[in-house]
Amino acid sequence: MKAIGIPAETSDRDIESLVDLDIPFPVAEGRDLLVRVEAVSVNPVDIKMRSARPHGDGRPRILGWDAAGTVVDVGSQVTLFVPGDRVFYAGSLLRPGCNAELHLVDERLAGAMPASLGFAEAAALPVASLAGWEALFERMRISTNGDDAGKTVLVIGGAGGVGSMAIQLAKAVGKLHVIATASRAESQAWCSHLGADIVVDHREDLSAQLAAHNIRTVDFILCLADTDRYFSTMAKLIKPHGHICSLVESESPLPMNELRGKSASFSWEGMFTRSLHATPDMIEQHRILNRIASLIDAGKLRSTAKNHFKGLNANNLRQAHALLEAGNMIGKLVLAA
Ligand SMILES: NC(=O)c1ccc[n+]([C@@H]2O[C@H](COP(=O)([O-])OP(=O)(O)OC[C@H]3O[C@@H](n4cnc5c(N)ncnc54)[C@H](OP(=O)(O)O)[C@@H]3O)[C@@H](O)[C@H]2O)c1
Repeated sequence: MKAIGIPAETSDRDIESLVDLDIPFPVAEGRDLLVRVEAVSVNPVDIKMRSARPHGDGRPRILGWDAAGTVVDVGSQVTLFVPGDRVFYAGSLLRPGCNAELHLVDERLAGAMPASLGFAEAAALPVASLAGWEALFERMRISTNGDDAGKTVLVIGGAGGVGSMAIQLAKAVGKLHVIATASRAESQAWCSHLGADIVVDHREDLSAQLAAHNIRTVDFILCLADTDRYFSTMAKLIKPHGHICSLVESESPLPMNELRGKSASFSWEGMFTRSLHATPDMIEQHRILNRIASLIDAGKLRSTAKNHFKGLNANNLRQAHALLEAGNMIGKLVLAA
């Protein structure tokens, strides 16, 4: 079958290492769904995995962890889906990625696609929605019942893939007052369009810009860029007993004592933690994605697909990686069959 990846014998890790491949058909076993992939999206994790050392097992490296498609076969233990169902998912970093004609995913990691969306719009959602949902409602424990209505969240890096979903989730589900950061007119307009109440520029002093809105501290902070750079600013801006969650690995040890006086909490969010460790609650990702689909179909959330490439092939994927690496994505970039 057709796939896009890095051949086993290639030691290069640059964009040109991504080529069209012909690989064996996968077979669904156990709780696996075999999915005909109709659309994929790209994420910073693709760049990290492309740049990682080859695993040396003699097989090509297939990237891609945002997919939408149709179930064509199921393993013997599958109970949640049947062939013909349309699904969307992020999957697992421990398995080949979804940049392929057919792909295997554990049913506990997949959701039923929103009925109101096509494959391209749905492929933009999984990683960003799971990361945003888990960060806001699991790590920071923001109420999904409106009990935190009116509290404030600062989303640092609001216009990117995750920020675009986090702004919407914080508004539609958390009922929060959302402050987002973006540095360009286009990315600032996108954050406002998605529902951010206030947009500030992360190239300028955040405290001073919030002070201009009479805001000294916030209840929650979601950090989607450069944790080292923002840590002390976040420690200054967080309320006593507030909660900060970062999705971005730090380069150096973080000065945690800066949070001690305020008894503020700091969490990491990793949306691949459940699949990497096969946690007993792995099926939560199935439930979160189904909930996202319901919110989309109810008109409370919208897909963040912004740019489409027609055709899931190496040429388009190389262009998508180049755009992602430039670091100024707005919403999501999708490749659809
Ligand atoms: N832990 C997890 O589970 C998980 C999951 C997904 C993503 N991530 C990580 O989360 C981060 C965001 O992911 P993403 O998919 O949203 O990335 P993305 O779509 O590539 O993010 C692009 C956005 O980042 C903003 N940005 C660039 N430099 C910034 C800075 N110094 N401060 C604040 N914002 C900045 C840009 O805004 P302007 O153009 O307006 O400057 C742009 O809109 C990445 O580091 C990614 O690896 C982690």
